[in-house]
Amino acid sequence: MTAEAHQPILSVKNLRVWYGTPRGAAQAVDGVSLDIGPGEAVGLVGESGCGKSTLGRALMGLTPDSAARDGQIYYRGQDVLRLGRRGMHALRGPEIGLIFQEPMTRLNPLLRIHDHFRETLRAHEPGLSKDEIKRRSLETLGHVGIPPTRFHQYPHEFSGGMRQRIMIALALVLRPKLLIADEPTTSLDVLVEAQILRLLKDLQRDYGTALLLITHNLGIVAEACDRMAVMYAGRVAEDGPVHEVFAEPGHPYTRELLRSTISLSTRNLSHIPGSPPNLVHPPAGCRFHPRCPDAMQVCRQKVPRITDLGGGQHVACWRHGPESAIPAGGRAPLEQETVDVADEA
Ligand SMILES: Nc1ncnc2c1ncn2[C@@H]1O[C@H](COP(=O)(O)OP(=O)(O)O)[C@@H](O)[C@H]1O
Ligand SMILES: [Mg+2]
Repeated sequence: MTAEAHQPILSVKNLRVWYGTPRGAAQAVDGVSLDIGPGEAVGLVGESGCGKSTLGRALMGLTPDSAARDGQIYYRGQDVLRLGRRGMHALRGPEIGLIFQEPMTRLNPLLRIHDHFRETLRAHEPGLSKDEIKRRSLETLGHVGIPPTRFHQYPHEFSGGMRQRIMIALALVLRPKLLIADEPTTSLDVLVEAQILRLLKDLQRDYGTALLLITHNLGIVAEACDRMAVMYAGRVAEDGPVHEVFAEPGHPYTRELLRSTISLSTRNLSHIPGSPPNLVHPPAGCRFHPRCPDAMQVCRQKVPRITDLGGGQHVACWRHGPESAIPAGGRAPLEQETVDVADEA
C-alpha cells in the first residue's frame, strides 16, 4: 500500500458546535475527533439528541447561522472550515455527498426524476452533453435498482424506499469520495431498510466510496460498517473496529446501548435508565456519569482522558484511565472514597 492509502480522507480534530438558545449555548458537539479512511464505512451512533446530525452537517460546512463552531475539519488535506463559497461548491456533491432521513423533503415535487439529475449534473459539470447526462443518470439509477422506464416520472409516483434510492443515486451520480448518510433508513420499513443497507454496501465496494453512516440503530452499524464511533451528549465515548467494540465494549454507555439493542431483538424491551442530559448545562466530568452504573468520584469531576485499548479501539472512561489503577489508600485523595456502592457490592 502507498502512503496515500493510509491517509484519512476526512480528519476531524476537536470539533465543537454550539447552538444559541434562549437559555444559553447548547454544546451539541463538544470536542469530537474522528478520521475516515478512503473507502471505509464508519458508523456514528448514539441516542437521539446527542449531536450526530450536527456533526454530520458540520463536516460539510452546513452549520446554521445560529451556531458557533471551533476546531478543524480536513478533507484530503483541505481545511473545510476555511473554504470560501467556491471551495464549498466544489466540495459538496462532487467530493462529499449527503443523504438525509426524509427523501421527500429533498425532492422537488414539481420536477421529474430526470430534471433532478440534469440540475445536479449541470450545477457541477457544466460541460456535459445531454446524451452524457442521460447516460450517467440512467447508469446510476440502474445501480440503485430503478429502471429507465421510470426516468420521466415525478417523485410522488415512487414509494418511500424508491425515493430514498433516488436520493442515493442523486448523491452518487457525482461520484463523491465520501458519502454522509444521516439516518437514511429511519422512515422506511425493515425490509426496505435491509435493501437500502445492502445497496449502500454494494456501492461502497463498487465505487470505493467512503461512508459515514449516522444512526441510532446499532444493528445497522453491525451490518454495514467497518468502524464505529459512539457519541454521548456531544462527545465521543468510544470508537474502534465494529467487531472489537461489539465483542468488548470499553465504555459503560456502549455496553448499555448494546444491552438494550440485544433485548430489543428478543422483544424484551429495556432502556438505559435515565435520559440524556440538557446540553445547555451538561453534567461536569464525564457527561454519562449520572446514568453510569460504574461511576466513580473522578467521573463527576474530570472529563475522562482517552485511553488506547489497542487494536484501534479508544475509550473516554476513567475506568480504563490511569486514575482507575490508583489503589484505595493510594496517592490521590480524590479517588480514595470513590466508587458507587452499588457496583462494588
Ligand atoms: N438548529 C438548532 N438550533 C438549536 N438547537 C439545535 C438545533 N439543531 C439541533 N439542536 C440541538 O442540538 C442537540 C443535538 O441535536 P442533533 O445534532 O440533531 O442530534 P441527533 O442527530 O443525534 O439526534 C440537541 O439538543 C438539539 O436539540
Ligand atoms: Mg439526527
